[in-house]
Amino acid sequence: MSKILLCNPSCYSIEYEINPWMDTNNKPDQRISEKQWNLLHDTLLRCGAEIVYISSEPKVPDMVFVANAGIVKGNTVVLSNFKHPERQKEKQYYKDWFLKNNYRVIEIPEHLNFEGAGDALFFNDILFMGHGFRTDLAAHKLVATALNVDYTSCELIDPRFYHLDTCFLPIQNRVVYYRKAFSNSSANKMLKTLLNESQRTNQYLDIVNVCEGLAKQFVCNSICIGENIITPSKDCASVFYDNVINYCDMSEFIKAGGAVKCLTLQL
Ligand code: ARG
Repeated sequence: MSKILLCNPSCYSIEYEINPWMDTNNKPDQRISEKQWNLLHDTLLRCGAEIVYISSEPKVPDMVFVANAGIVKGNTVVLSNFKHPERQKEKQYYKDWFLKNNYRVIEIPEHLNFEGAGDALFFNDILFMGHGFRTDLAAHKLVATALNVDYTSCELIDPRFYHLDTCFLPIQNRVVYYRKAFSNSSANKMLKTLLNESQRTNQYLDIVNVCEGLAKQFVCNSICIGENIITPSKDCASVFYDNVINYCDMSEFIKAGGAVKCLTLQL
């Protein structure tokens, strides 16, 4: 069963600008944000997820994007080191939560930036890791070693897609990505890794390169639970042609540069 961490949006706001989506003159509506988050919450439950909660905290308005807490494998978490000072205060809250919940907590050296599951996604047992905006390339090896997994580094080049989970979505037998968000050499390397892995495991693999319009609807920021897709993209039918599509309007969170996947952390 999927176990997912959520942080409620009661302290969510846009108080600073650290990615191109954020505009302090275009703040989220508190009431609509809560409605959208509640729908996401109820949809996750309906799709069979088990949900656990971390409390929101004042003065860290992006903490609702709990995907950035760290990357979890089994009972181990590698905590994030946020790039921007505006988010650095979140780390202690996450650390306390993981310790209280009996996780083995690993921290990488402070000078290396790493933004958790936002920049680290598993396809089978291979960890795909983003760099270029929030996470340092030098952090990849340390994170992968801590989790004892193989990894592939992916260079992000479009500031609108500053975290890997905004442009790369590995699900079961499909990888959905927005190729233009990656450097050419990275995109080629990623495809090679995926194809090798699908051959090695004799696994059917469908690789879908989405258009800019769908990428901007955060189609790659969907999550998959069994046959269900929970997605912020209303035009995604061709991408998720054989899934049950559960659309959740995430307009208030996209204002901060995040959507379904960013609001959840797979435990
Ligand atoms: N405003 C947040 C930031 O810029 C959004 C984080 C989105 N999280 C994610 N996993 N993509 O850090």
